[in-house]
Formats: sequence, C-alpha cells, structure tokens
Amino acid sequence: MSDFDLVICNGTVATAADTTACDIGIKDGVVVTLGKNLGRGAREIDATKRLVLPGGIDSHCHIEQRSSAGVVCADDFYSATVSAAFGGTTTVIPFAAQHRGQSLRQVVEEYHAAAGPKAVIDYAFHLIISDPSEQVMGQELPALIRDGYTSFKVYMTYDLLALDDRQMLDVLSVARREGALVMVHAENHEMIKWLTSRLLDRGLGAPRYHAVSHARLAEGEATNRAVALSQLLDVPILLVHVSACEAIEVIRNGQTRGLKIYGETCPQYLFLTADDLARPGVEGAKFCCSPPPRDRAAQQAVWTGLQNGTFQVFSSDHAPYRFDGSGKLPRGDRTTFKEIANGVPGIELRLPLLFSEGVGQKRLDLNAFVALTATNHAKLYGLYPKKGTIAVGSDADIAIWDPERETRITAGILHDNVGYTPYEGRRLRGWPVTVLSRGRIVVEDGKLSAPRGSGQFLPCALSEAAKPLGVPVPELASASVAGAVLV
Ligand code: URP
Ligand code: ZN
Ligand code: ZN
Repeated sequence: MSDFDLVICNGTVATAADTTACDIGIKDGVVVTLGKNLGRGAREIDATKRLVLPGGIDSHCHIEQRSSAGVVCADDFYSATVSAAFGGTTTVIPFAAQHRGQSLRQVVEEYHAAAGPKAVIDYAFHLIISDPSEQVMGQELPALIRDGYTSFKVYMTYDLLALDDRQMLDVLSVARREGALVMVHAENHEMIKWLTSRLLDRGLGAPRYHAVSHARLAEGEATNRAVALSQLLDVPILLVHVSACEAIEVIRNGQTRGLKIYGETCPQYLFLTADDLARPGVEGAKFCCSPPPRDRAAQQAVWTGLQNGTFQVFSSDHAPYRFDGSGKLPRGDRTTFKEIANGVPGIELRLPLLFSEGVGQKRLDLNAFVALTATNHAKLYGLYPKKGTIAVGSDADIAIWDPERETRITAGILHDNVGYTPYEGRRLRGWPVTVLSRGRIVVEDGKLSAPRGSGQFLPCALSEAAKPLGVPVPELASASVAGAVLV
C-alpha cells in the first residue's frame, strides 16, 4: 500500500517565498507532505535537475469569446486550455463577456456550457460589464459576485464597450459595497476615435497606424482618470495590459501614495514593439492589440515595473484570432487598422518567454517569477492558497521545468488554434516538461493525458486585495457623507 498517489522527488521546489530541495507527497489531488525521505508513492517522478514550480495561473485570457464587432476567438475551451497546459499553466481565468442588452446571468450560463465539456485544466471567470443597467447593477452583478464571480472588467474605450466616467463610478461603488475587484482597460476613447478618423480620412489605414491611434498619452490619461475615480470612492482597481511609460508612472505614483492600485502587464509589451505593426503589407495585423506594443524604452519600463513591484501579475491577454477573413482580416488585404480584430495569442508562451528572458537573463529571480505568474493571481482573485503555491493543503497544480531545454519557437509546435505566433523564430531556454493539475498528469513527454472536460470550475472568494483602504478622499470622509454617497 502506497502512502501517496504520487511523489515528486529530487527536485528544486520554488514558491513565491522560498526555493528548497524537497520532495512532494500528493494524495487525492492535494499536496499532503513536503520534506525528505517521504514514503512510497503509487507513482514517482524523479525531478533531478528540474525546477518544481506552482502551475501558472493566467488571469487574463479570452476564450471562445465573441468580440463586440462579432468576431469569435480562434480558441475554444479545449484548444485554449490544452495550449495553456503545454505552456505550464494549470488555471485560467477568462471572461464571461456581456454585450449590451444581454443578461449577465445568461452570459455566465453560456460560458459555463462552453467550458464545462471542454476545459482540461481548472478555470474561473471574470465578468465583463458593458451594459451597467439597473437590473445588472442592482440585481445580477451583486448576486454573481456572491456566487464566486468576484472580479470584473470594464472598458474606457471601444464603441460598444466603453463606460463613461459616471458609469465607471456606478460600477466602482457596487464593487466597493460587494468587495469585488475591478479590472480596468484604460485608454482615452475620444483621443483614439479622433486620431482614427483623421488617419483614415488621409488614407492611412495600414496596421502600423493602429499604434499611432492608440497613442501612449491616451493610455496615460485614462490610467490617471481611472486612478482618480478609484481614489474618489476608495475602491481598489487593477489596470490591465499596461504598455506605456506614462501609464506605468501613474500606477507607480498611486501606489507610492498608498492607494490600492494594481498593475498587470503581458508578454507583448516585453517582446514586441510598434515596429512589428509596420511589417510589410497587412503582416503587421498579427501584432495589433490594444494597447499596442510601444518602443524599446517602454519595454525597459515594463521590465522595471516587473522588478520593482509596480506590476503584481503577468498575464497573456491571449486574444486569439486567425490571420484570415475569420479573424484578423475581415476585408483581406484591404482591412484597415480599425477593422483588424484586436489581440495577440500568448497563452502557451507566456511562461516560457518570461522564464527564458526574465529568470534566464537574471532580470527576475525564480520566486518573483512564481509570484508574477501564479501566486499573485491566486491572491488577487480569491483562489489562494488552493491555487498558486505548493504548500500542504494546496491543489497539486505543478509544472516541472527543465531549465536548460532549448526551444526554437514556431507556430507548428504550439497547441492553440491560431496558426501563427508573434514570437516566431525566437529561441528560448527553459520549458515545462511535466504538468499536473490536481495531481493528475496533464502533459508529459510532449503528450496530453487529460480528457476533455476534466477541468473544474473554481468559484472565487472575495480577496483582501479588493478591500477598500477605509479612507475615502477628505471631501467624502465624514461618516454621514460617506454613508450617503458610498453605499
Ligand atoms: O487587444 C486586445 N488586448 N484585445 C483583447 C481585448 C482586451 O481589451 O483585452
Ligand atoms: Zn482590454
Ligand atoms: Zn484582454
């Protein structure tokens, strides 16, 4: 009789806090012992010369989502979660995206129907609120937050998604009352619209002008406004997919002033620049996402933000569209930047890219890597310590890495359904070779072992990160005013 279902021995185990040479005993999908000379396992994995890390959590990805323009993502819950698992990710938090006029509850049910039979790793959902009607704000959203959908995203741009400042305040006040975390896509809508129409009027529709229209000042201004709205009501917010120096400065400044402002960035802002959008013909469409990649100085500022704690989470913002009429190019070669589906794939390469260029190039230590790719996501979104760490009682979601394995990236080795990768031709060192979800082997020796639908839905708890500071701005600080305005 074995003591454990599985023992991982002889590896170097790293969490966000420590790096230790120890073995891991797993039973019933959970880590039950960490130590040396554990008893026997029904199965044993020898992790000599390997790094044993918590499986990644990708808390920003778009799966089987229909964009506001009606374009459907290339990945469904099967291909996206298989691709995530091959890249060392064991939990995804995609969006249940409301379009205007839709019931939020109905939207959530549809995403469950899509994910349940297909996901091979565990998943939670954020909500996207594009229509903060009385019904949504008064009934559906509070009820859904209590049911485990404790974070939601709002947009300050896109014609069919953008909320104005008043709607933002309404949404923030519900988040404050219910304890939910608000994720903000911060870009100034009017600046982008104005630049877009000027560019198009002058016949400048090539992909490179996407980066011109989504100016870095548009990101900086909206980030500043989002921070002010957050401060006014004393509600924590997370600025997602941050790319511009101007936005990073605003976030850092808010944090320095003691505000609960969180930041997320993504691989495209470390490894791509606006020059990629200027590749010949419509090739640049492969790199169009919002906000767009910027320049070398912005890449450096993003690295610095990862190093100094401005960013808590590193997500993929996997928004997969095929490079054809079904996705990126609805009008083929004549597609203008305004019509190009926004987003880049990255769910599989998020961790290998950051490992190779961050840990491998000594920009980040292993513990920071784990924090940025797993632990902080679990903490922000109410999944910790079940997910995001290797500790007694945690789910055995583990990625075993060969830190020396060299891989030349090409679309053909990936498992998504996109057909191209923005990182084609890059050489990376370090790769997750064995991936476990709740103690089950999901990926081993380059093969998938998990059946469709074996992933489980994870309701999220309210997180400490989303709690107000308790100190609204002075004008609102008196108990009676705060009571009247904030509740
Ligand atoms: O361009 C992007 N990032 N597309 C995905 C949607 C979003 O705003 O995150
Ligand atoms: Zn966004
Ligand atoms: Zn996104």
